[in-house]
Amino acid sequence: MGGTVETLFREYKVYIKYVLLFSAAYLVKCVFEFLYNRSAAGQDTRQVEETADEADSPLYEASGKSVVEDSQGNYFYDKYLTDTESEKNVHIPFSLPRFEPEEMKKRARDFYELVNKRRSCRFFSPDPVPRDVLEQCILAAGTSPSGAHTEPWQFVVVYNKEDRLAIREIVEDEEKVNYERRMGKNWLQDLAKIKTTFVKEYISDADCIILVFKSPFHYKNGVKHNNWYYEASVSISVGILLCALNNVGLVTVTSTPMNCGPAIRRLLGRPEHEKLAFLLPVGYPANSATVPDLHRKPLDKICTFI
Ligand SMILES: Cc1cc2nc3c(=O)[nH]c(=O)nc-3n(C[C@H](O)[C@H](O)[C@H](O)COP(=O)(O)O)c2cc1C
Repeated sequence: MGGTVETLFREYKVYIKYVLLFSAAYLVKCVFEFLYNRSAAGQDTRQVEETADEADSPLYEASGKSVVEDSQGNYFYDKYLTDTESEKNVHIPFSLPRFEPEEMKKRARDFYELVNKRRSCRFFSPDPVPRDVLEQCILAAGTSPSGAHTEPWQFVVVYNKEDRLAIREIVEDEEKVNYERRMGKNWLQDLAKIKTTFVKEYISDADCIILVFKSPFHYKNGVKHNNWYYEASVSISVGILLCALNNVGLVTVTSTPMNCGPAIRRLLGRPEHEKLAFLLPVGYPANSATVPDLHRKPLDKICTFI
């Protein structure tokens, strides 16, 4: 037995030598890469935790659970750009007007007063909403920042009453189950002050609805690309849309119809990778409109200066 092993060893000695040499070289390469990344990251190597949100965690996806940033929090991306991409990677001059502190204060206060008038309204007048106004508001939403400028949003405006009635039916069927079985006591208690039920008249009463879809990825030249932080990006764009609508005297209510996405997506013929994020009825408030008497937290409850 020992003789056989010895013979085999002698016969394959050259190959074994190469395997050992190759392994040693690979080990050295790994050590160098590790040391290089550590020094470039200013010792800031972050482990990304696996969480329930990992599907929206680009770091998790991109890095195989770890990522390296520099001391300013910038990811190392240059080495991943192809030549053609880096050619397009130009910067252009940028500036904004500068205001005197008094003018800054006034502008800050004016903006606050404008957005502080925004309320979620659930009672709509049937008056028509001009399409070009909506287009302008959606353009404003499209100025939102997005992870790696992937712009993962799609705003689908539905004026057609038949479609809105069909969407209302989908939403109410699901909401009935949500209210009766899925939401639970605590959630329903929190909603009591808002007085919402599974009935969603606003979907058919408002002149139109905007369905905001979020895409976790997109295709470029047939290649699938991730839309980094697509959830956060779409939410920010909707925030801008709410301000833009409020600014022109239109109202909406931010709604996130649970479990209705696929049926609405199919009804509207949207592609499978688009997920329904928000449903926003848009119009003018009804003459008899009311809103819950809610109060917003003061600055010292929402802000800490350190
Ligand atoms: C993510 C999100 C989801 C919401 N979903 C619903 C909803 O499904 N139905 C509804 O009537 N209001 C919904 N709202 C509206 C909130 O109830 C409302 O913003 C809150 O009561 C504060 O009132 P305000 O918007 O008038 O300041 C939602 C708001 C947010 C931000």
